[in-house]
Amino acid sequence: MRPISTDLDQALALLQAGELVGIPTETVYGLAADASRPDAVAKIFAMKGRPADHPVIVHIAGRQQLDDWAQDIPDAAWKLADAFWPGSLTLILRRKPHVPDAVTGGQDTVGLRAPAHPLTHALLERFGGGLAAPSANQFGHVSPTTAEHVYTEFGDALGLILDGGPCTVGVESTIVGLTDAQPTLLRPGGIPAEAIEAVLGVKLIHHEKPTTAKLRVSGLLDSHYAPRTPLLVGPLAALEAEAYQRFEAGQRVALLHHSQMLQAVCGAECHAMPLNAEAYARALYATLREHDGGRFDVLLLEQPPQTAAWLAVNDRVKRAASGWLA
Ligand code: TXA
Ligand code: MG
Repeated sequence: MRPISTDLDQALALLQAGELVGIPTETVYGLAADASRPDAVAKIFAMKGRPADHPVIVHIAGRQQLDDWAQDIPDAAWKLADAFWPGSLTLILRRKPHVPDAVTGGQDTVGLRAPAHPLTHALLERFGGGLAAPSANQFGHVSPTTAEHVYTEFGDALGLILDGGPCTVGVESTIVGLTDAQPTLLRPGGIPAEAIEAVLGVKLIHHEKPTTAKLRVSGLLDSHYAPRTPLLVGPLAALEAEAYQRFEAGQRVALLHHSQMLQAVCGAECHAMPLNAEAYARALYATLREHDGGRFDVLLLEQPPQTAAWLAVNDRVKRAASGWLA
């Protein structure tokens, strides 16, 4: 029997025993452990194959727990928590001294988020503490948006995956840094930057490319969110030419497009992506997974629109891509 269920009692018992549980959130599924226990958090890193100095987000039930984990909390944090929690926004704040180094990657900050998924919200309310949870995928791989995806990543090594259905947002939370003088957009995600700026009344600082040599935010590594099959991104005309050439060379090609309806492109299996940014985000990871795993030699993805509404999608596409076609 697959360890997939909606059994909150079992989830609670496992977490209280220092074990891992796969949890649904509205963004992507998480691999959760009791954030107050370094031994439990260490199991996350071992199971994901994730480097130990990468910090993980602490999930809490709501704003009432913010100061269990953070200190020197600026007004901006309370405002954002009130506006967007529960929801897909992570706040980076100064940590309380007791927060384990295993959670913060040894930094003096902690990432906090109150997820909106009702099952996980109920779990967090009963648990009372915080759940450290990165996305429930092998390090560097595409994030999971169904319980089945999580099972594909870890098999029976994970004792329980809570099944909350397909994720409604589909890309990870927006991460906002609030430890410097000005709020910073560290990762575009489920909540649009403009909505955050509207609440704060200021523009977010946003560095597209990190310049520091030592990357501490693992989501900023270029190799993230990637399928195992090579993924080439570009305008449709270039992809059609590429598909044709590769087909001639005997390759199996998938073409993921959105701007036009395509019945067929010589030899390629065509898949229509949604035209709307939110629906596209919801579908992106599942579509990459569906076409990954050896069925194709290459995935060709039409470059999404370059407007603000598509910021998070473009960020993930950029990291998933192994190359670009002009
Ligand atoms: O939507 C999400 O955020 C999902 C769900 C499960 O909540 N979680 C997620 O976790 O995407 P993960 O570990 O895959 O990515 C979390 C990002 C990482 O890039 C991590 O480095 C950053 O948050 N992060 C966590 N704590 C941090 C901190 N104290 N300072 C800077 N970055 C932090
Ligand atoms: Mg991740």
